[in-house]
Amino acid sequence: MIVLGIETSCDETAAAVVTDDRRILCDQILSQDDHHRTYGGVVPEVAARAHLEHLDGVVAAALDGAGVAFDDLDGVAATAGPGLIGGVIVGVMTAKGIALARGLPFVAVNHLEGHALTARLTDDVAFPYLLLLVSGGHCQLLVVEGVGAYRRLGTTIDDALGEAFDKVAKMLGLGYPGGPPVEAAARDGAADRFALPRPMRGREGCHFSFSGLKTAVLHTVNGLDQPPAAGDVADLCASFQAAAGDVLVDRCAHALDTFAAAHPDSGTLVVAGGVAANAYLRGRLDALAQERGVRLVAPPARLCTDNGAMIAWAGIERLRMGLTDGLDFAPRPRWPLDPDAPPVGYAGVKA
Ligand code: KG4
Ligand code: ZN
Repeated sequence: MIVLGIETSCDETAAAVVTDDRRILCDQILSQDDHHRTYGGVVPEVAARAHLEHLDGVVAAALDGAGVAFDDLDGVAATAGPGLIGGVIVGVMTAKGIALARGLPFVAVNHLEGHALTARLTDDVAFPYLLLLVSGGHCQLLVVEGVGAYRRLGTTIDDALGEAFDKVAKMLGLGYPGGPPVEAAARDGAADRFALPRPMRGREGCHFSFSGLKTAVLHTVNGLDQPPAAGDVADLCASFQAAAGDVLVDRCAHALDTFAAAHPDSGTLVVAGGVAANAYLRGRLDALAQERGVRLVAPPARLCTDNGAMIAWAGIERLRMGLTDGLDFAPRPRWPLDPDAPPVGYAGVKA
């Protein structure tokens, strides 16, 4: 089976061709970072227009690079939510157009399911597994029981961790997206220089919170010389990253307890989403996994941030189960993986 996957939910215009025997024939990613850098974040309307302008070319390049034509495809999958709706509509309409013109099945993929199933594309991980999904829009712990079968153990009650990385970078003038420059600056920094909070650490359950940590970084920045010296920036990034690492390790430790109680025979922790590209955080999670005797699976950094291959793969997983979607499928700005998860009782909660 050969499937085309399209991803346009945020600021990457991406398309990939993937086979059901887990080969990525071509993976094209056009980043819009330059469009959004001036604003320090993604501007939805700018993103949607850029997707519209570039998606045709990116799809053509993916097919070319894979050495296949539309008629060689067995299906077309596109991110149909959650995400910035203008961009999602561009991807979904393009996929539907190809499907209609070529008589191919169309698969509407949940972007989060794309991240969640990537470890099966890269490492052939068996169900069930515990998933830490950390990206710019989400921070969740989920039990992945099967395709379309997720049980949410915890989520953030305010900001996602990637969002916190982006805000910290903005405060320090490090540019957008913030994860990579914060990680790079932290390498030369002293993680014990600034005492920052570890929100939710030691609390019951598996929820996260990062807004207090972000505010603490802001207060610290305000107390520094302006612009801050490179050494101060490095120390603050290292202190922030260490605090984030402590929180992730604590929350994952709780989730591993819950997961082990329900599934004593499976021991895999998967980390996915853009923040999973961070080598320091991967190292912290790896140490936890070793301590607990479980396996950590972290896809290569390029497949952690948004890409078309994960969408093509999620499409393959669904097609293999006979799951396709009608051309009347409406894009969804919100689309929780576990619709039965109880709402979290705080303001500004992300499902
Ligand atoms: O999964 P993704 O590409 O898009 C969303 O679905 O949100 O994640 C993007 C997020 C951004 O907030 C970015 O700053 C963060 O992932 N990120 C990182 C790193 N690379 C990307 N955060 C920390 N360290 C990194 N190396
Ligand atoms: Zn994503």
